[in-house]
Amino acid sequence: MTYDPNGLESAPAWSQLKDKHDQIGEQHLREFFDQDSTRGKTHTADGAGIHLDYSKQRVDEETLDLLVQLAEQRGLAERRDEMFDGVHINVTEDRAVLHTALRRPSSDTLEVDGQNVIADVHEVLNKMGAFAERIRDESWTGHTGKPIRNVVNIGIGGSDLGPVMAFEALRHYTRRDMQFRFVSNVDGTDIYEATQDLDPEETLFIVSSKTFTTQETMNNAHSARTWLLEGIGGDEAGVAKHFVAVSTNAEAVEAFGIDTDNMFGFWDWVGGRYSMDSAIGLSTMIATGPAGFAEMLAGFNEMDEHFRTADLRDNLPVLMGLLAIWNRNFLGASTVAVLPYEQYLKRFPAYLQQLTMESNGKHVTLDGEHVTYETGPIYWGEPGTNGQHSFYQLIHQGTSLIPCDFIFFKQPLNKVPATDAPDHHDLLVANVLAQAAALAFGKTAEEVAAEGIAPEIVPHKVMEGNRPSNMLVADKLTPATLGALIALYEQSVFVQGVIWGIDSFDQWGVELGKVMAKKIIPVLTDGAEDDSLDSSTLTLAKLYRS
Ligand code: F6P
Repeated sequence: MTYDPNGLESAPAWSQLKDKHDQIGEQHLREFFDQDSTRGKTHTADGAGIHLDYSKQRVDEETLDLLVQLAEQRGLAERRDEMFDGVHINVTEDRAVLHTALRRPSSDTLEVDGQNVIADVHEVLNKMGAFAERIRDESWTGHTGKPIRNVVNIGIGGSDLGPVMAFEALRHYTRRDMQFRFVSNVDGTDIYEATQDLDPEETLFIVSSKTFTTQETMNNAHSARTWLLEGIGGDEAGVAKHFVAVSTNAEAVEAFGIDTDNMFGFWDWVGGRYSMDSAIGLSTMIATGPAGFAEMLAGFNEMDEHFRTADLRDNLPVLMGLLAIWNRNFLGASTVAVLPYEQYLKRFPAYLQQLTMESNGKHVTLDGEHVTYETGPIYWGEPGTNGQHSFYQLIHQGTSLIPCDFIFFKQPLNKVPATDAPDHHDLLVANVLAQAAALAFGKTAEEVAAEGIAPEIVPHKVMEGNRPSNMLVADKLTPATLGALIALYEQSVFVQGVIWGIDSFDQWGVELGKVMAKKIIPVLTDGAEDDSLDSSTLTLAKLYRS
């Protein structure tokens, strides 16, 4: 079957779903549950250690059947296999999309353009492992002979968000006698605060940049270099002991002065936002050890295998992707809240923002045709229960429909002193279950009035409900669960992109702003005249200079 990126609206299931929406679009979740008392048990799926309860999504059996038919009519399975096989599905950059190869076992082979990429991946993993061990066992020392105590990753976007998220998520499993910091913003405060209390003699910088040309990263790397040299007495030879690079651009790494022996490579078939399990994860590997990293890769791979082999109807990324299509294109939801009830996942929503929005924030199909339907929604979120005391009000009673992805783990990672108050983890889980139920079922005016509430106050206390959500549950946050969770979202983003017919793997939208910034720099620094700039920008630039 040849993939037709423009064929969404002519897929029979698409019009059938529209009819379906006319029929059940407004049906309340209360009714769905009244009609089927087993819904909470049956509308679930499991894969790679993750349990998905989608019973609180506004779909009936027929809707699910039609969504699966839509996936079939859009050639999802074929497209998925093409991705796993290394076909150049990133058409605008003419690249394969092979982040799944990063987590395959060394016993596998995958030939791409005559090269076994799995062997290449494991060569880099072994090099990373040897280096991480040297840092961890202190056989790698800084220029003055001191062991490394501080690791500072310098990168931005995919070269930052994955590493920082993974460090926070896996903090429980990391070396507590070491500091791990992450510098991304070109705002000088970021590098200043990350370094001001560190000893340069004990500090290693990992300059992470796929291209090694990204302005923020290069600026920060140069500042770090100067900071280091000032701290170790100015000897340039010291740079090699305190700087390593993760990049696909060996020439630029060398030009910066980093020994390419201390460069960890990856390939153009790994997109920035899909790269945290490549060498970009070097800081994660140093923090958790090579075994922790390997466990994370195994979790990724398990979810990939589930995605590749499970029936579409029982397939977690497929279900999540298709439900997202239903919510976006039929129920009209323009945002999705990701709400992990796990403090260690505090950076997970930020990580997902790039993964989802840089991937599916596209307005043309692969053929360049302007789409006539909505594509990627806005993803955002905060860990529970904090969000409950800030923005949940709008999710419960606002006028926008905001589907939620709740995440929780059965076991906590940390013991806290027991008191007479409820157990922390019981309370945490009670809250996540309560929120999902309250959003789904709400509270009617009759129920509110029955509590003796004054009639004029009743409307304020009504909770309409019918707010859909997914509940993702796993036993415990481990490196493997984290890998599986990330792969789940990666593949769900892929499913949505295939349905919409867009290129989920390019990011041309970020280019114009970068080019404009380059143009504006001389106007700010030298007061250069540039008539091509608009009057607002020029006036603001003058204001800045004054
Ligand atoms: O600006 C967007 C982007 O290209 C992202 O896709 C990427 O993750 C980030 O910049 C960083 O790029 P690099 O790793 O090449 O520095």
